[in-house]
Amino acid sequence: MSSTRSLTRTRTRTTVTGGAGFIGSHLIEHLLAEGDDVIAFDDMSTGSRANLDDALLLSESDSTGSLTIVEGSILDKPALDAVIAGADRVFHLAAAVGVRLIVDEPLAGLRTNIHGTENVLDACLAHDVALLVTSTSEVYGKNTSDSLSEDADRILGSSSMSRWTYAAAKSIDEAFANGYVTEFGLRVAIVRLFNTVGPRQTGRYGMVVPQLVGQALRGEPLTVFGSGTQTRCFSSVRDIAPAIARIQEHPGTVGLAVNLGGGHEISILDLAHRIIELTGSTSEVQLVPYCEAYPAGFEDMERRVPNNSLAGSLIGFEPLTSIDEIILSVMDHLGARAPVPSL
Ligand SMILES: NC(=O)c1ccc[n+]([C@@H]2O[C@H](COP(=O)([O-])OP(=O)(O)OC[C@H]3O[C@@H](n4cnc5c(N)ncnc54)[C@H](O)[C@@H]3O)[C@@H](O)[C@H]2O)c1
Repeated sequence: MSSTRSLTRTRTRTTVTGGAGFIGSHLIEHLLAEGDDVIAFDDMSTGSRANLDDALLLSESDSTGSLTIVEGSILDKPALDAVIAGADRVFHLAAAVGVRLIVDEPLAGLRTNIHGTENVLDACLAHDVALLVTSTSEVYGKNTSDSLSEDADRILGSSSMSRWTYAAAKSIDEAFANGYVTEFGLRVAIVRLFNTVGPRQTGRYGMVVPQLVGQALRGEPLTVFGSGTQTRCFSSVRDIAPAIARIQEHPGTVGLAVNLGGGHEISILDLAHRIIELTGSTSEVQLVPYCEAYPAGFEDMERRVPNNSLAGSLIGFEPLTSIDEIILSVMDHLGARAPVPSL
């Protein structure tokens, strides 16, 4: 455990599970700037202490809160209880994330994403702590609506495909959270994040933007799965992290699930070409059939477009960062290292 300093002032005490991850580290920087004393709780499986270097620096200023990093798993109930017992609020981001990881290790993913979340809910209940749970647009599955609102139907593929276990587990998390609200009056809000991108996201587990940017910077072919006509709406973590905090702080969000996504739809093929242009790379796009990248029967979503109206009306959320700015931020992050690491 490492702590930047101890404080005598009363500040909001906030625990972030998955705090050393991509989104968690950005959320923590936002919370520190707001003056929270933060505990980052993480098992460092896909996250890292290095992700919190900027947050640690920030926490040394007198005008920000303090940061304590605790290494541990949400599957370890006593360790989890210890970091939630003294908190005023918890942001639950710890999860097994990424299509590749979920397909390769379905059991570990299910245990972390279902039992882990139940443990977090139980600890929050035991200590009467407000909680925000991060869910995902994956819960909408193959619903290709041009505006997915929070009450949209879920259209999932076969339950024998491990690819859908992430969506299934996150849906169970939401159902658990709603049960704790209904039966125990626990203060829980949920956000459903859509393809959040930015510095510190790794391409290692199937995240498309850092993967393609890394390939472009290394001069390798940009591997686009399927036909590349599938579309997504990417959002910047710089828009999403503060919005997650504001959703938790809004008194009207208890028992709600709120979409947070990007505003511009782009095909993966167009994304790859834009990345080549912005990086000035000589790489070419290489289409790779899904069957070569994933087990037989793997399915992807053709389209996923968020309706952000609820977040707009609750907290004035507007995803302002353009896709070019998002790509450039990932480039800066990866290009800062020489040579560009293999993802
Ligand atoms: N990035 C996205 O586009 C996206 C989209 C939808 C939802 N989400 C959700 O946002 C949250 C954060 O995702 P991210 O993109 O920052 O991924 P990430 O992998 O960077 O963050 C997850 C963090 O959880 C930690 N973790 C994993 N298992 C743990 C365990 N058992 N105990 C403690 N810590 C554990 C990892 O080490 C990592 O630091 C996740 O809940 C994810 O499902 C992300």
